[in-house]
Amino acid sequence: MVRKYDYLVIGSGIAGMSFALKVANENKRVALICKTTLEEANTFYAQGGVASVTNLEVDNFDKHIHDTMVAGDWLSDKEAVEKVVRNAPKQIAELIRWGVDFDKNENGEFDLHREGGHSEFRILHHADNTGAEIQESLVRTVRENPYIDVYDHHFAVEIITQHHLGKIVTRRTPDITCYGAYILNESTGEVDTFLSRITVMATGGVGAVYTTTTNPLIATGDGIAMVYRAKGTVKDMEFIQFHPTALYHPGDRPSFLITEAMRGYGAVLRNLDGSEFMQKYDPRLSLAPRDIVARAIDSEMKLHGTDHVYLDVTHKDPEETKRHFPNIYEKCLSLGIDITRDMIPVAPAAHYLCGGIKVDLNGESSIKRLYAVGECSCTGLHGGNRLASNSLIEAVVYADAAAGHASGVIDGYEFRNDIPQWNQEGTAHPEEMVLITQSIKEVNQIMGYYVGIVRSDLRLNRAWNRLDILYEETEKLFKVSRPGRELCELRNIINVAYLIMRQAMERKESRGLHFTVDYPHPQLDDKK
Ligand code: FAD
Ligand code: SIN
Repeated sequence: MVRKYDYLVIGSGIAGMSFALKVANENKRVALICKTTLEEANTFYAQGGVASVTNLEVDNFDKHIHDTMVAGDWLSDKEAVEKVVRNAPKQIAELIRWGVDFDKNENGEFDLHREGGHSEFRILHHADNTGAEIQESLVRTVRENPYIDVYDHHFAVEIITQHHLGKIVTRRTPDITCYGAYILNESTGEVDTFLSRITVMATGGVGAVYTTTTNPLIATGDGIAMVYRAKGTVKDMEFIQFHPTALYHPGDRPSFLITEAMRGYGAVLRNLDGSEFMQKYDPRLSLAPRDIVARAIDSEMKLHGTDHVYLDVTHKDPEETKRHFPNIYEKCLSLGIDITRDMIPVAPAAHYLCGGIKVDLNGESSIKRLYAVGECSCTGLHGGNRLASNSLIEAVVYADAAAGHASGVIDGYEFRNDIPQWNQEGTAHPEEMVLITQSIKEVNQIMGYYVGIVRSDLRLNRAWNRLDILYEETEKLFKVSRPGRELCELRNIINVAYLIMRQAMERKESRGLHFTVDYPHPQLDDKK
């Protein structure tokens, strides 16, 4: 089946939905694709909130810009940082217009939280489930929009470029152009051709490349892998953010997050014997940036041979704790942990990818007619490490920029009518699913053991050699198989794991989130 849309938006998180809402109108139709349900996205699980300067009596843009540059270890692109920080308040107003309800205090002002690395209280939130509030508001607004057609349970397999017209495309080809995507309809099992004048990648993060992650298991880096295979530019993949405080509850995948806002509220990290340890690592103690806190916890766990530490909020007023963190209180209570009386067992978990598909200030990728927004993109905002709560705001600011730019150029683009349909000839369904599920587990283990919080050349080389075997086996299997979601995801996590390893091997320094025992010091020539 062939379908034609002005805009093809792949991904229904905050990035994809806000882009779709900005471009859809009676003259421009949008297809919004998501691989499971509209709701299931990283966005839904966000807890802490959205960073934006709103209280100008104590805060200002320069402070937020400085905090972002410091967290990013001075690798952030200053123009991208300025863009996000200065445009944040306008996009907060847009979110509110779409129905998002941010908590206010008794004076009617935003009730602001503070998180690690922020010099001021500037996190807007909806209790401790801000993401669900945003996702549900956007889903409602999207469903009411008559110019957006939603395709749920549709899996984007590959973007279409001149490669599919038989042309040779390499990383040096200057005018690689995207004409749409091949999309698997899970209910028919057919791969349909979606032709578009503009395509937007909004496929989110890569947490599912690791065993222990806070991300929902849809986060397999599909968009990044598709763009990389189409010879687009992908950058900064070595900067994987591990959240210091995921709830330690073996067997849970994804891991439940204990928001950093809890440390902003006064929670303290302790070893199993109850002693504090952050004073050994950073004067900002539990509110140091995430990379420092995650490495400190990793080091303490290794030192004491334990698999978790504790987060202690028992000294705070119980009623206030329940009011601020109702969701976390309930979740922990369901596991027999009363956070007003018991310390919370926590351990780091893969949480966020700072790199991704390289885009410019308009959200345009290196491939023509292809934009990338949200976590799958690399705008340069985060540099070596993301400041807490800077990603939801980045997604809406760049969705706005991309929508503005795309609206100005789309009328110059025609549909291609000579694109061949997906060729299934000579393929069959894989005989044994275990070939796929076991390989996914192997990739997860390789990444966890060898490409985690602390790296070394030896570990990276070992990971590389093992991944190579899985890559060869999987590509062989893909060539003779009808594409199914699981096989495509396996292929994508292998591509993403490869990119993380390769870019980690290329960085011969410890910087931001990338820490290697072989090059423990940063090369600071580019530090401003
Ligand atoms: P997502 O919200 O992940 O959406 C991705 C979409 O792409 C989904 O609809 C999915 O179905 C679709 N998709 C993926 N692959 C395919 C494919 N092949 N075919 C079709 N569809 C596909 N950030 C903050 O700023 N503040 C916070 O407080 C915060 N808390 C967080 C808490 C948790 C537990 C997690 C996991 C993340 C948190 N983050 C937070 C990060 C933030 O939530 C994400 O970076 C952000 O939501 C990403 O939005 P997105 O639109 O780019 O992607
Ligand atoms: C959290 O609530 O700790 C997560 C915030 C974020 O990832 O930005």
